[in-house]
Amino acid sequence: MRIDILTLFPGMFMGPFSESILGRAVAARLVDFQIHDLRAWAHDRHRTADDVPFGGGPGMVLKPEPIFEAVDDIAEAGAEIVLLSPNGELLKQELVEQLAIQTHLVLICGHYEGVDERVADHLATRQISVGDYVLSGGEIPAMVVADAVVRLIPGALGCADSTREEAHSTGLLEYPQYTRPAVYRGIEVPAIVRSGDHQELARWKRRQALQRTRERRPDLLRPEHLEEMRQLGIDLSS
Ligand SMILES: C[S@@+](CC[C@H](N)C(=O)[O-])C[C@H]1O[C@@H](n2cnc3c(N)ncnc32)[C@H](O)[C@@H]1O
Repeated sequence: MRIDILTLFPGMFMGPFSESILGRAVAARLVDFQIHDLRAWAHDRHRTADDVPFGGGPGMVLKPEPIFEAVDDIAEAGAEIVLLSPNGELLKQELVEQLAIQTHLVLICGHYEGVDERVADHLATRQISVGDYVLSGGEIPAMVVADAVVRLIPGALGCADSTREEAHSTGLLEYPQYTRPAVYRGIEVPAIVRSGDHQELARWKRRQALQRTRERRPDLLRPEHLEEMRQLGIDLSS
């Protein structure tokens, strides 16, 4: 997969893309990140990529020309052109899975007051928000998208099964995880986790995932989950 990122702050990507799973995926050539400074497509000698908003108002808006021309130069036919925006579709695991099967993503990072609307209307194939809050720029959202997508590329994680039961990939939050020591500061790991009874453990994990989702994210539960909880004898009255 190739991921091109258009930004006014290319230096922000140095650390996150060279460490951990992303760094390993780059080294293994599973992903090719290209970080581009939008100012390279500016038209004047001051390399201006932003301007004051028409009609007044605070802050600066990213100009359309550098963004359109950068995309003309770098995007392959069929590339997904993503504008990071708090006004976009909320990033969920289902959307991450759709992005992970693309061969080329172009991520456009806004900054300041935002991006000339013509980019959203006539260039981007998608607008994505990473949450219902406003960040200073699209760089951190682009890192979030890249990380979530790259870890789904086969071979990017150490263990092929690692994403199988993760939160959201099953439609539920994940069950609790524990490691050694079995007792720490007097707090014991549940006995079932150490019992070696794989069937019982699988049931316990499923129950935990259902209960935890019901407590913390009831919006994720589907009718079949409620039916399953009834069958498992989970009290749904409270
Ligand atoms: C300060 S924000 C602009 C906010 C804009 N004035 C508004 O109210 O919608 C600057 C840039 O940060 C990025 N950004 C901020 N919050 C975001 C979010 N929740 N998801 C994705 N991108 C975001 C976008 O690229 C945006 O253009």
